[in-house]
Amino acid sequence: MTRLLRLCVPVLCAGLVSTLTVAAQQAPAAPPAAAGATRPAPPPYVPKNLKVLPDNTNLRVVMRAYAGALGVECEFCHVGPDPVTHRDGDRASDANPMKDVARYMIRMNDDLNEKYMAQLPKAPDVDADAKIQCGTCHRGHAKPEAFVPPPRQQGNRPPGAPPAGPPPAGAPPTGPPAAPPAN
Ligand code: HEC
Ligand code: HEC
Repeated sequence: MTRLLRLCVPVLCAGLVSTLTVAAQQAPAAPPAAAGATRPAPPPYVPKNLKVLPDNTNLRVVMRAYAGALGVECEFCHVGPDPVTHRDGDRASDANPMKDVARYMIRMNDDLNEKYMAQLPKAPDVDADAKIQCGTCHRGHAKPEAFVPPPRQQGNRPPGAPPAGPPPAGAPPTGPPAAPPAN
């Protein structure tokens, strides 16, 4: 009996395969991704509380740029996620006071570009399209870091500058102390 079965199986399989092949050839080709195509696209987000930015702002791009320029997460300016559902906080809410600070910064930034950068006098080397952005000052920090210029190198004076003499009394040190003479 088992022997007979063993003999039968390949025959059965061969029959099954040919049946399936025929069925596949006869079945009409299913349109690809039919399920996805029938689902309607979500409606575009309509901002509810923009006081500075125009309504057609690409918020996804602009908000990511703010977060990147300041090196922060969305919740630095927006209310945090719901503690129970862990869903995003209400982005339209003004409950986080940092959002209003950011609004002032956006206005300041726009003013700088409109009143100053766009009016820059022409000069060789001046880029007429140069723009100030959040990152120009912030450089990845919520508060721009204080800039401390590196000490001036001796012997690197511009042509025509007076020779370096001893610093006036009380002047802050300009560099590392001179190494003692080698002997
Ligand atoms: C530096 C602060 C800051 C950061 C960081 C920030 N936002 Fe905003 N966001 C704002 C300000 C300010 C407004 C309101 C602009 C206005 O009044 O025109 C706003 C508005 C929005 C709105 C519109 C809400 C509405 O319906 O009025 C959305 C959505 C939004 N932000 C999403 C995000 C997301 C997502 C992130 C993180 C990727 C993010 N924001 C990061 C400051 C920020
Ligand atoms: C001209 C330089 C400059 C530009 C451009 C600028 N900021 Fe600022 N911003 C500052 C300075 C300086 C501070 C620090 C104020 C302080 O000491 O509290 C600051 C502080 C902030 C703060 C408060 C941070 C904190 O921890 O208190 C936010 C939010 C902010 N800026 C958002 C922005 C956004 C968004 C932009 C772009 C639309 C922007 N800034 C463009 C100079 C700038």
